[in-house]
Amino acid sequence: MSVSTHRLADGHEIPLLGLGVWQVSDGSDCVNAVRWALELGYRHIDTAQAYGNEESVGRALRESGVPREDLFITTKFYPRRRGDPAAEAERSLRRLGVDQVDLYIIHWPEGGPTWAWPGMEKAHELGYTRSIGVSNFSVQELEQVIGVAGVPPVANQVQFSPFEYRRGLLDECRRRGVALEAYSPLGTGRHLDDATVIAIAERLERTPAQVLLRWCVQREIPVIPKSTHRERIAENAQIFDFALTDADLAALDALDRTRGTDRARERKWW
Ligand code: A2P
Repeated sequence: MSVSTHRLADGHEIPLLGLGVWQVSDGSDCVNAVRWALELGYRHIDTAQAYGNEESVGRALRESGVPREDLFITTKFYPRRRGDPAAEAERSLRRLGVDQVDLYIIHWPEGGPTWAWPGMEKAHELGYTRSIGVSNFSVQELEQVIGVAGVPPVANQVQFSPFEYRRGLLDECRRRGVALEAYSPLGTGRHLDDATVIAIAERLERTPAQVLLRWCVQREIPVIPKSTHRERIAENAQIFDFALTDADLAALDALDRTRGTDRARERKWW
């Protein structure tokens, strides 16, 4: 498998496809999923302090034998404790068993979008992470962070799919040199039953999951589908050897339920 990459505004490359481990239980489920992904050629793993599975991710990374420099590892600062992002990054590194992650992002803007940013910059300055960013931030929240930043965020990870096609947010991110990353690209599985997606998949002799993931990578949007099944992890990686037509893209774009909003999420959930 050959995975294309996207160059972040700070010059580092992020693989367009990664394995997301949200809702993957700590222990053998997580170790196996990450191990299979690495065997199958994934080089990008996305975890978070809040997922409680960084140790399992770390174990799988070590056991894989894949050289550290070939991997792209993201973890996320859990803002609920109002803690110190740099100190929490150091704890993540210990759990993951690495000296540095590639991307460290604020998981959501709880308590306001800016208070954690100086600590994120400190984590960056101390070399705990190569790049820093945010997640679940709206355009307005992103603007506020950029307003106080010495080192600006290079990524904003949000729920994104043809059904959550936040065009306004995507355009603003691009204008500001922030890579929009797509989580829950399959709608946590719900979007796989859609008739439009199925029809395109059948015509291209692909699966609905591959169509939804291709829709992201064809736009150079990094995407992190989650699965704990080896055959699905393999299936989700076979997206760099076919293309959607302009008509396919337009049909998928029309599924948007967010009507191009610049919001990062439907509501505040914390
Ligand atoms: P599982 O982990 O049991 O394989 P998202 O990435 O949008 O959050 O979606 C993840 C959900 O979609 C999980 O429930 C996962 O189930 C399921 N899933 C992931 N890949 C596939 C696939 N290729 N085909 C069907 N379901 C999938």
